[in-house]
Amino acid sequence: MKFKGYAYIYTIGCQMNTYDSEKFFSILSGLGYEKTDTLDKADVVICNTCSIREKAQEKAFSFLGRIPAIKKEKPNLVTVMAGCVAQQEGKKAFKRSPYLDIVLGTQAFSRLAGHIRAILAGKTQIADTDDATGIYESMPDFDCLDNDKVSRFVTIMQGCDNYCTYCVVPYVRGRERSRTPESIVEEITILADAGLKEVTLLGQNVNSYGQKENICSFPELLAKLSEIPKLERIRFATSHPKDLSDELIYAIRDLDKVCNHLHLPVQSGSDRILKKMNRGYTSKDYLERIEKLKKECPGIGLSSDMIIGFPSETREEFDQTMDLIKAVEFDGIFAFAYSDRPNAPAAKFSDAVDEAEKMARLNELLEFQEKMTEQKNMALVGQCVRVLVEGKSQKKRHSSKASQSNLPQMTGRTESAKIVHFHGEDIHPGDILDIKIEHAYPHSLWGSVQGV
Ligand code: SAH
Ligand code: SF4
Ligand code: F3S
Repeated sequence: MKFKGYAYIYTIGCQMNTYDSEKFFSILSGLGYEKTDTLDKADVVICNTCSIREKAQEKAFSFLGRIPAIKKEKPNLVTVMAGCVAQQEGKKAFKRSPYLDIVLGTQAFSRLAGHIRAILAGKTQIADTDDATGIYESMPDFDCLDNDKVSRFVTIMQGCDNYCTYCVVPYVRGRERSRTPESIVEEITILADAGLKEVTLLGQNVNSYGQKENICSFPELLAKLSEIPKLERIRFATSHPKDLSDELIYAIRDLDKVCNHLHLPVQSGSDRILKKMNRGYTSKDYLERIEKLKKECPGIGLSSDMIIGFPSETREEFDQTMDLIKAVEFDGIFAFAYSDRPNAPAAKFSDAVDEAEKMARLNELLEFQEKMTEQKNMALVGQCVRVLVEGKSQKKRHSSKASQSNLPQMTGRTESAKIVHFHGEDIHPGDILDIKIEHAYPHSLWGSVQGV
């Protein structure tokens, strides 16, 4: 039986959730639902949640707080909480959000359609946080994806076995498991045939892809994907410093389609804190990997994640983090104030850092990095960079005379993921252009087209 109506999906969290939400759309479309961006129009609402920090979790519950008013007008509305908070809370979520119909854990995808049918047939409050194997082998229904996208995420592995002491992921995404290379190649080939130019491969620790299953190493997977004819660019996240092999560095260096960019979260520059975090490397190990990357892959774009104010972090230890950042000169950093998470051991560690002190340290780091990012962008002025065009950009991005042009303003990204704006005629998403950088801003670049 098919249903008529609209589906609304609200996605919080990482790129994996973005990929999962596309799968939800494809399941709902199989049931007969159409996509809507208007919450009031929806017959099914899915909130795809994230639990990485308290703030992300609260965002989900505050969104769900809007549901009762809508349900009053539309009693048959089906509401689903999916993703990492759903896995973490299970049926406890009904206590906080009594209007929810389905709590769908991170491994319960394949059962979503059945649960919606059951709710519409009169069943109440289904919580499914059971395990399942092989779900990521199932392909989305490609016909209901937005086929005009030139860049997409594709999850290549699930879960995590690293148990960093601050992190909720191993508890909400389960043990690490990798998809087969055949299934990944097939999915990306279909997408590339439909117009995809750039893929970002997703996993919590892509460096250990395929190791457990002994199917194929990550650099081998990159080589296989490089063979897909219409695919132009390959990115991936996240890499764990403890597993960053020389082979992967050589793959970045030698495989043309693999972007000269690496996101390598370090979290802290203090060896005592890194140990307490259970990260499995020292700041010296990290800097050695960075040195090798810079030597083998000149001009590589580097970014990182930092946690500020981990329990018992002293001012001196924070200064060591600043020293590391200054030594590496990252192109960009995502820095977060430490947040206690359910099940994560660090929530029980003593000597919590005072909130005001945490924020002061965080701001100091962000202020420094903002200047560094601008400085790194400035260094590109006068250089020619390869840009993958993503589309038109509406907001005026540049104020000098050059921008008085009546040509459309376009936007795209460099290999190192920097945003570039420029004017151009007859340019389409998916085109790859050489652009000469003329101006640098803290968060973007401005340039002129040199050639295709
Ligand atoms: N698997 C990736 C990270 C996934 S989570 C890795 O190992 O690098 C993304 C980022 O969120 C982490 O890199 C970390 O910087 C941050 N994070 C995770 N747990 C956190 C917590 N409890 N408080 C603050 N930030 C956290
Ligand atoms: Fe979390 Fe650590 Fe796994 Fe990353 S590697 S997901 S930070 S446990
Ligand atoms: Fe958040 Fe889950 Fe991703 S906790 S960061 S949505 S894996």
